[in-house]
Amino acid sequence: MSNGKATLAIEGKEPLELDVYQGTIGPDCVDVSSLAGQGVFTIDEGFASTASCESKITYIDGGAGTLLHRGYPIDELANNADYLEVCYLLLNGELPTKEEKKEFDDIVRKHTMVSENVANFFNGFRYDAHPMAMLCAVVAALSSFYHDSLDISDPEHREITTMRLISKMPTMAAMAYKHSIGQPSLYPRNDLDYSANFLYMMFGTPCEDYEVSPVLARAMDKIFILHADHEQNASTSTVRLAGSTGANPFACIASGIAALWGPSHGGANEAVVKMLEEIGDESNVDSAVLRAKDKDDPFRLMGFGHRVYKNFDPRAKVMKETCDEVLSELGIDDPLLKIAKRLEQIALEDEYFVEKKLYPNVDFYSGIILRAIGIPLNMFTVIFALGRTSGWLAHWNEMVSTNSRIGRPRQLYTGSPQRSYESIDKR
Ligand code: SDX
Repeated sequence: MSNGKATLAIEGKEPLELDVYQGTIGPDCVDVSSLAGQGVFTIDEGFASTASCESKITYIDGGAGTLLHRGYPIDELANNADYLEVCYLLLNGELPTKEEKKEFDDIVRKHTMVSENVANFFNGFRYDAHPMAMLCAVVAALSSFYHDSLDISDPEHREITTMRLISKMPTMAAMAYKHSIGQPSLYPRNDLDYSANFLYMMFGTPCEDYEVSPVLARAMDKIFILHADHEQNASTSTVRLAGSTGANPFACIASGIAALWGPSHGGANEAVVKMLEEIGDESNVDSAVLRAKDKDDPFRLMGFGHRVYKNFDPRAKVMKETCDEVLSELGIDDPLLKIAKRLEQIALEDEYFVEKKLYPNVDFYSGIILRAIGIPLNMFTVIFALGRTSGWLAHWNEMVSTNSRIGRPRQLYTGSPQRSYESIDKR
């Protein structure tokens, strides 16, 4: 139901009347879907001004630095809820009651194991395979195990698959890590909560008991919450586009993992730590900022800037607080944190960053907490993928249950006009 009208006047054409839609909050949306029928396309490289869909899951106000999941501010969720509570909220639209939460937790707990055959997949990788390569491949392969739940038109199949993926991601992520260090994987334990179970599978061994630090488990859970969802970001848009073809959910989530891997997206947390290690000392921060501003230098301040946030990323604020808490609780004095704080301070006072509205984003501090927890660098984006699985599934379910049309963008063609083939002798 349109809330208003817009008129598009193009030279040499009759004015075109378009519907305008208002959301609950946020910018109005002009419906341009009728333009193709008038022989006109719109172009918006990078989709900065383009709404790809209607959604009720997450709202971002980049100017105000606001992030809401089903209306709840991210800092309130990160500081009061646990990750599975946020998963429930993203998937169902409301926070769970105590009974609903217990049922949800129990279902997740009972689906954390993977088929023994899945372990064989990991054995097929070289020891030095990147964990994101392993995770992407194994998640896609899961569709070959669950023939009983691949009918995406069946709400029960969608629910079973959603719970399987949320439950099994930590197990598979830990298996990827264990394979990369040549250690045997551990089975999940039903007496541990979600994030504690993940840390147990990551750092426990069959040789002795392993006690998970509650401080680290809480920090891990908060990191999963801060990465859970973020509107129509590149990887979520990839999941929606793959899902719009009717592809099975395992393939769709694997496509999201692949898209997230890029250093401009989820790969930035790994790139931030590599950048901080390259800077090496607070005395080198000024020269790093100069390089980041130099158009001829490909060096960028990883963890800075965002397509939507032109103010502080609210997740970065919570992440920074958590960073200080975890490092002081553990008595860790990480030199990279000092470099990061100096970098943030200089950048936020520098005209280039101020004018381009470049602030620290979710990735800027997350890597330092992950280091403190003991997560190795090549597992950072796997952590991001683990947390974002709930958001990807919420968007996939929203899209499939509303029978969205297949996504098929058009283009501005600037190639050769039609021409005839010439035999090779005449070229
Ligand atoms: C995530 O979309 C999401 O929601 C993503 C995410 C999520 O939760 O899903 O939030 C997660 O991906 C966070 C972003 C992680 N990436 C990084 O930290 C990599 C570093 N940041 C940049 O690559 C960049 O800021 C992006 C990719 C994040 C945003 O790119 P845009 O919106 O296309 O902006 P841009 O590249 O056009 O930059 C605008 C200007 C440019 O200068 P001009 O051409 O206008 O002169 O700002 C400059 C850029 O050169 N710029 C930077 C910079 N980021 C942008 N200059 C130095 N250092 C940087 N980090």
